[in-house]
Amino acid sequence: QRIPEVEALLQKMTLEEKIGQLNLLTPGGGVATGEVVSKNVEAKIKAGEVGGLFGVAGPDKVRVAQELAVKKSRLGIPLLIGSDVIHGYKTTYPIPLGLASSWDMDLVQQAAQMAAKEATADGINWNFSPMVDIARDPRWGRIAEGAGEDPYLGSRIAEASIKGYQGDDLAAAHTMLACVKHFALYGAAEAGRDYHSVDMSKIKMFNQYLPPYKAAVDAGVASVMSSFNDVDGIPATGNKWLLTDLLRDKWGFNGFVVSDYTSLNEMIPHGLGDLQAVSALALNAGLDMDMVGEGFLTTLKKSLEEGKVTEEAITNACRRILEAKYISGLFEDPYRYLDSKRPAKDILTKENRALARTLAAHSFVLLKNENNILPLQKNKKIALVGPLADSRNNMLGTWAPTGDVSLAVTILEGFKNVAPNATIQYAKGANISDDEEFAKHVNVFGPRIEIDERSPEVMVDEAVELAKNADVVVAVVGEATEMTGEAASRTDISIPESQKILIRALVATGKPVALVLMSGRPLTIPDELGLPVAILQVWHPGVEAGNAIADVVFGDYNPSGKLTVTWPRNVGQIPIYYSAKNTGRPAPENDEFQKFRSNYLDSPNSPLLPFGYGLSYTNFEYSNLKLDKASIGQGESISATVTVTNTGNYDGEEVVQLYLRDVVRSITPPKRELKGFRKILLKKGESKEVTITLSPDDLKFYNSQLDFVAEPGEFVVFVGTNSDAQLSKSFVLN
Ligand code: IFM
Repeated sequence: QRIPEVEALLQKMTLEEKIGQLNLLTPGGGVATGEVVSKNVEAKIKAGEVGGLFGVAGPDKVRVAQELAVKKSRLGIPLLIGSDVIHGYKTTYPIPLGLASSWDMDLVQQAAQMAAKEATADGINWNFSPMVDIARDPRWGRIAEGAGEDPYLGSRIAEASIKGYQGDDLAAAHTMLACVKHFALYGAAEAGRDYHSVDMSKIKMFNQYLPPYKAAVDAGVASVMSSFNDVDGIPATGNKWLLTDLLRDKWGFNGFVVSDYTSLNEMIPHGLGDLQAVSALALNAGLDMDMVGEGFLTTLKKSLEEGKVTEEAITNACRRILEAKYISGLFEDPYRYLDSKRPAKDILTKENRALARTLAAHSFVLLKNENNILPLQKNKKIALVGPLADSRNNMLGTWAPTGDVSLAVTILEGFKNVAPNATIQYAKGANISDDEEFAKHVNVFGPRIEIDERSPEVMVDEAVELAKNADVVVAVVGEATEMTGEAASRTDISIPESQKILIRALVATGKPVALVLMSGRPLTIPDELGLPVAILQVWHPGVEAGNAIADVVFGDYNPSGKLTVTWPRNVGQIPIYYSAKNTGRPAPENDEFQKFRSNYLDSPNSPLLPFGYGLSYTNFEYSNLKLDKASIGQGESISATVTVTNTGNYDGEEVVQLYLRDVVRSITPPKRELKGFRKILLKKGESKEVTITLSPDDLKFYNSQLDFVAEPGEFVVFVGTNSDAQLSKSFVLN
């Protein structure tokens, strides 16, 4: 439905002014993730050649830009002000892969709501988030920015994030336009190398990779960002099938599409022609806004004169951007997000920091707890060691350009805050990595890996001495923040050798050792998992890192996170994901090698840790799985009920997970797929019946015609604590 105010404005606009609206610039105040930074931005705004800016923040600064647009350009059209608010604005919370591990949709929504409130207080009205790219290759650094490997969970997280950012009224001063990215398939870059090609069947796309983007569209996301990669041989930014046939015509998306940072221009090295050709291609494909590259600004007029694009296509793109401005309330009041009193009131408040602490604690995943080393008592002598134990620069995680590292709470500080009666002695013990060349690559945005002047041996010895004199050792190890994220792919995803040496030396002291493992991706840790230690996976937890880690380590919060991505034993197993297919020659379930079966000579098929895995300080038992029907017809729902009992010594939360196997169907089915989950709190000794209902759509898949169908036959429901759940019941779809 057309908006009369927008239509009236379009009538007044010259061709140049329409093209100007399609131009998104960054004056370079934020993070420039490419070689190009926009020039002469002020003059371009006045000339009506800019539709939006990013990398500008703070009500006073944004006001300057907005006034240029409103008062100095001919038509006074306000600007969209974008930003990458990926995991919190100034109150940074865990990286998205961590937050997803909470499996708590209410918390995910609250997190996005808080981010929106803070960002809008600083003049931002458009957020380049959520990133919903399914990622099954932990070599890919940007796995940190998404929800993991699963389309069902990814879809729920996409919905919750969009609800949090956009609220019910996009014109409200505390909500902002969301932008789902990176459309599409960016997480499937070959060999996990960022920006690499993607090639996949439509069956896989529709069933495994596209659902979270579609869920975002269904949830009313206002904008979509096209990805850097190609899809079926055509870069997403110029891919008409993707941006128009699928996104608009099939899914009914009616917001606007923005390119990624110069992804339009990058179609030149992709091999699709010169700037004029790729700009025309992108416009005709359905791209509305060109981020930084100025291909639209500099070539569309010529392409129109030469008949390569139509004025109608330019007008349509312009209309979509104006509509977004209209629904943001910017036409009614261009200064709506520019109240200079708001930052002090809304940003980094006590409540926000408390929420960040809760979010972090809920994101941690207990991977192992030998001899119940955790939780620690608060009055012990603790050797707190490791290169990340007192490393403020590494707490926030990747893509936190609006966060302030100086505000982050270190683990050393958190321990002192939470356990003031403990004796805590600290030693660095090792460098994050001793490899200077590697450190140089990681340190582009600042000192993340700081190589000590002392020799590695001296550092390890110092830590070992502390360990020998302590009751218990806590070693904070893993990845520096910029070891993951954009352009941070790794071919070796183990803990760097310098830290492995430290861990072995600490364990050799015979003292109880708890590893606090920080990373933005699954790591290959078969050696560490084999040691008699506790391992708490904490991702990169954000500004409240130290406090939240202390809350869990000292038992004020019982860990409840679950992995949202499979952890491989070794890089050779990648891609590895729980919903793989059976193959025609399945290997034995017990990992025994068999010749002429689908397995490896030198590694089991099973992962190190399955999707959905995570321990608690207590234990949960599952029993009495029932289905409410033995068979159902098309269009009917079916419910599974299971009893979950807390049989341990602590109150705790558990994520009850339901997986479904479609036993026989017209295209090869995955072994099982997540189709429902519920996070519940059980007091010590308490039992609860938990019911999860499968809707008719949960039984459906995209068949070879790409029709979304449920085929009659047997289905098996598995319910349990992770994707290896064994409790099962079958039903029949007639
Ligand atoms: O939003 C980001 C995107 O995820 C990666 N390239 C740059 C964009 C804007 O900063």
